[in-house]
Amino acid sequence: MSKPSLTAVIMAAGKSTRMKSRLPKPLHLLCGKPLLSYLLDACRSAGVTRTIVVVGHEAERVQEAFRGQCEFALQEEQLGTGHAVMSARPLLNDYAGDLLVLPGDTPLIDGETLRKLAEHHHSSGAVATLLTAVLPHDAGMYGRVLRDPNGTVTGIVEAKDASPEQLAVREINTSIYCFNAPALFDALKEIRPDNAQDEYYLTDVIGLFTRKGERVEAVVADDWQVTLGVNTRVELADVAARLRRRILENLMLSGVTIVDPTNTYIDADVQIGQDTVVHPNTYILGNTVIGEECEIGPMARIENSQIGNRTTVLASQVVESRLGDGVRVGPFANLRPGTVVGNGTKIGDFVEVKNSIIEENVSMAHLTYVGDAQVGANTNIGAGTITCNYDGKRKHRTIIGKGCFIGSHATLIAPVQIGDGAYVAAASPITDDVPPDSLAIARCRQVVKEEWAKRRREQSSSEG
Ligand code: UD1
Ligand code: CA
Repeated sequence: MSKPSLTAVIMAAGKSTRMKSRLPKPLHLLCGKPLLSYLLDACRSAGVTRTIVVVGHEAERVQEAFRGQCEFALQEEQLGTGHAVMSARPLLNDYAGDLLVLPGDTPLIDGETLRKLAEHHHSSGAVATLLTAVLPHDAGMYGRVLRDPNGTVTGIVEAKDASPEQLAVREINTSIYCFNAPALFDALKEIRPDNAQDEYYLTDVIGLFTRKGERVEAVVADDWQVTLGVNTRVELADVAARLRRRILENLMLSGVTIVDPTNTYIDADVQIGQDTVVHPNTYILGNTVIGEECEIGPMARIENSQIGNRTTVLASQVVESRLGDGVRVGPFANLRPGTVVGNGTKIGDFVEVKNSIIEENVSMAHLTYVGDAQVGANTNIGAGTITCNYDGKRKHRTIIGKGCFIGSHATLIAPVQIGDGAYVAAASPITDDVPPDSLAIARCRQVVKEEWAKRRREQSSSEG
C-alpha cells in the first residue's frame, strides 16, 4: 500500500503578545535557529510533503525568513486558531487527505511523534486525532482535554473558560492534530467566537465532532516535554534548556566529551567529531563543524566555522573561519570572518586575524594584527607585528611569502609584498616590497651618548 499523502498547516500568525517583543515569535532564536524552523524540520522528517504556514502578524518578516521552505497563507486579522486554519483553506480546496495542524510555537516536537499521530489517525478512520500530553505538574494555561467516564474524548476547554474541576485535569491539548481535511473545513464554518477571548477556537471543532457522533481519537505523547509551547520568554528559556540538554546528550553519546554540560552551549546544527573534548564556558554556534580529537575551550566562542582534527582553541573567539588540523589558537585570540588557517599553525595570545589566509606551520604567537593578508607556510611573525591594511578610505592587501621571518614590531604598510624567505628587521615600518631572500631594515640607527644620564643627574643636584 502506498503511503497516504500528508499535508501540514502550521499556525504562525499570532501577535505573540506574551513575548513582549518587536521580533515576531516564529523568528525568536532557539539554540541558533528560529522557532518556526523546528516545526518545519519535524514535518519534513515525519514525511509531510506539503507545508503551509499561516502568517499574519509581521507576515513579511516571517515570509522573508522562510521563503522557499514552505507555502504561505495570509491571515489578515488574528481572530483565533480556528480562523488561522480557515485562512489556509483557499490553498487546500481540492485536498481530501489527512491534514496535520500544528502551532508555530512547540519547537521540541519531533518527526517520530508526528508520524505516529498521522498513522494512528489514518488507520483508525477518525475525523480528528489529537496529540495530547499528561503533564507531571499543574497544566497552567494549556487547554484541557475532556473525556467521558469511558475515556472517550468529548472536547477541549481552554484554561480561561474552564471550571475548577476542569482546571485540575493534567491532560493537555498540545494544539497538534491530524484531521480529515474536508470534515475539518466543514466544522470550522460552524464555530463561533463565544468565549472568554472572543476568538474562533480551533479546539471547538473537537466538541462539535463528538456531539455529532463523529469519531475523535487521541494519542498521548510518550514524552510530554516535546509538546511544550513557547508563549513567554520564560518558556523560551525553559525549552532552550531542554533542547540544549538533548543536543549535548546526543554529542556525548556519539563520542564527544562535554566536561560540564551545564556550562556548555552548542547550537542545534553543530557537528563535532569523536574524542573531541569541549571544556566549560564554551559556545559553539551556527553551522560549525569540528573534527576529531580537538580541545575546545575553556571559554571559547566558535561561530559558523570549520575546524579540522587535533586542533585546540583555548579562550578565544573564532567566527566564520576555517582552521586546519593541529592548529593551536589562543589563549585570547580573535579570528574574525574570512580567516583561513593551515595545518600546524600557531596563533597565540592577543592575535587578531581577519579576512586572511595563513598557510601551514606559521607561528604568530603574540600581539599581532593581520588583516587582508596572506602569510606563506613556515613563516614566523614576531610579537607586535601589524599589517596596516586601511588608509582611511580603502583596505589593501599584505602578501608575505613562505619561510619569512618578520621581526617583532614590524609595521607592514599595505599594499606591500614580502618575498619568500625574506627577513624584516624588528621595529621596521615597511612601505616598499621586499624581494625574496633579502633583509629589509627600516629604522633609525641607535645613538648612544655615554655618561649623558650621569651628567644630567649631577647638573640637577647642583641646581637644587
Ligand atoms: C493553544 C490552544 C490550547 C493548547 C495550546 C498548546 C486554542 C484556542 N488553544 O493555546 O488548547 O493547549 O495552544 O500550546 O487553539 N495563531 C494564529 N492566528 C491566530 C491565533 C493564533 O496563527 O489568530 C497561532 C499562534 O501564532 C500560535 C498558535 O496559533 O503559533 C497557537 O496560538 P496561541 O495564542 O499560542 O495559543 P495558546 O494560548 O497557546
Ligand atoms: Ca501557544
